[in-house]
Amino acid sequence: MTPKSICMLVARAAHAHDEQTLQHSTRMIKTSSLLAESLGLPHEDIELVEHGALLHDIGKNVLPDVVIMKPGRLSPQERRLMTEHTVYGHDLLKDVRQPVFDAAAQVALCHHENFDGSGYPRGLSGLEIPLPARIVAVADVYDALRSDRPYKTGMDHRSTMAVLLRGDDRTSPSNFDPTVLAALSRQDAAINALYAAEQA
Ligand SMILES: [Fe+2]
Ligand SMILES: [Fe+2]
Repeated sequence: MTPKSICMLVARAAHAHDEQTLQHSTRMIKTSSLLAESLGLPHEDIELVEHGALLHDIGKNVLPDVVIMKPGRLSPQERRLMTEHTVYGHDLLKDVRQPVFDAAAQVALCHHENFDGSGYPRGLSGLEIPLPARIVAVADVYDALRSDRPYKTGMDHRSTMAVLLRGDDRTSPSNFDPTVLAALSRQDAAINALYAAEQA
């Protein structure tokens, strides 16, 4: 089996009861890959980013279904519990001791860290955050904004790009690595086409 097929098997098993997270993670493979490619990463590193994207939310499978499947917005207490998926994901992946899973463990742990230090779980900032996690963070928010949820309708590509590049009341461009945001701008058309094909 290739590392890619092993990661897909792990993701399918982990999210077997949570189709929404599996779809979200699967879509992020290609978006993260386009960002990594635009940043000039070598092929092997692009693959590590792809596997990290696929497995980034694996820790959610440890959380109670009532939180994961909640159709409405989370309460402050549920949100606190949800932040733990980063640590759980890291703990699940870190002991495999293979480069693919080492990188994925770092992405799982750090994909909610913000470049300006306002993220979680450790409040890392700037280059303290591993590059694959800085890439996946942008793909993650892009996909979350595009997606329908029971309590919201997904945004279109233009509005999503505007939130990431210029911010809104919940998201600031300072949350993200500016070099990854520049890569997002360069891949604007490719990412738009990717999601248009998904929705067709
Ligand atoms: Fe996450
Ligand atoms: Fe995510």
